[in-house]
Amino acid sequence: MTVNQKLLIRYPGGKRRLLVFLQDCLPNIHDIDGRYVEPFVGSGAVFFYLQPTKAILSDVNPELIDLYRAIRYAPRKVWATYCGFGSTKSDYHYIRDEYEPKTLIERAARTLYLNRTCFKGMWRHNREGRFNVGYGGQERRWVITEEDLTFCSTVLRGVSLRCEDFQSVINQTQKGDFIFLDPPYRPGHKECSNSHYVWHQFRYSDYERLADSLQRTKSRDVRWAMTISSHEDILRLLKGNYVLRIPRGTGKMPGILTSDSGEVLVTSYPIEGGKRL
Ligand SMILES: C[S@@+](CC[C@H](N)C(=O)[O-])C[C@H]1O[C@@H](n2cnc3c(N)ncnc32)[C@H](O)[C@@H]1O
Repeated sequence: MTVNQKLLIRYPGGKRRLLVFLQDCLPNIHDIDGRYVEPFVGSGAVFFYLQPTKAILSDVNPELIDLYRAIRYAPRKVWATYCGFGSTKSDYHYIRDEYEPKTLIERAARTLYLNRTCFKGMWRHNREGRFNVGYGGQERRWVITEEDLTFCSTVLRGVSLRCEDFQSVINQTQKGDFIFLDPPYRPGHKECSNSHYVWHQFRYSDYERLADSLQRTKSRDVRWAMTISSHEDILRLLKGNYVLRIPRGTGKMPGILTSDSGEVLVTSYPIEGGKRL
């Protein structure tokens, strides 16, 4: 895949726009002796770019993980069900509020449909756990093709897909593994929550848990890299590692980068231009 790759799902906070920056800071896939591990996988921009053959992908979003499971198992059936859904605003509301999928394939097709036709690819649920994002239109629905699903199915073959909290995934890593982390954050802000995400808001205590798990991977010879807010309260938790500011993209082309974004890349290994925390 290239840095301008097309992704199956739209995802708030997705890292596609940063691939041009990240590609020089992450290890070459052939230099990872163990597994590639991504505990906050989202749309998997970095995973689908690197295409590792040994990997663990996880996220607390169960609909997302079920979507990947279904696409890996039966991409053409997911596609056929997706194509069968209607194209009007009222069809969208029917699929969102009334349609009751009975199989993994139907659940996955519904998730993909809602993601590609909802407002700005947001992923938000009400208190009862019902998806409640408004209609966004059909323009992005047919940007993906059956071939995109079969391609993803091939890349996901052999990958361990989990729906777990990040801590248990990090704690299971072993010597030689590489972890890429992209937790929910709002660049530069103290407020550590992101209302675009669903089940859990990410709190400062979660960043503390995250930092603690990462600091403990050192004794197991595990390398990691994480995109995160540059807020001092967060960076203070990551002492002893390396930090590099991420330039802001223009939003038009992932290759064009401008001034400071409030986001940083923190790594457990030295990187060019990185400073020790
Ligand atoms: C910034 S997004 C990841 C975006 C991804 N890198 C991409 O390119 O699309 C953060 C993800 O963390 C997940 N998440 C939130 N809390 C979590 C937790 N406690 N454990 C694991 N995943 C979590 C959210 O569901 C969301 O998918």
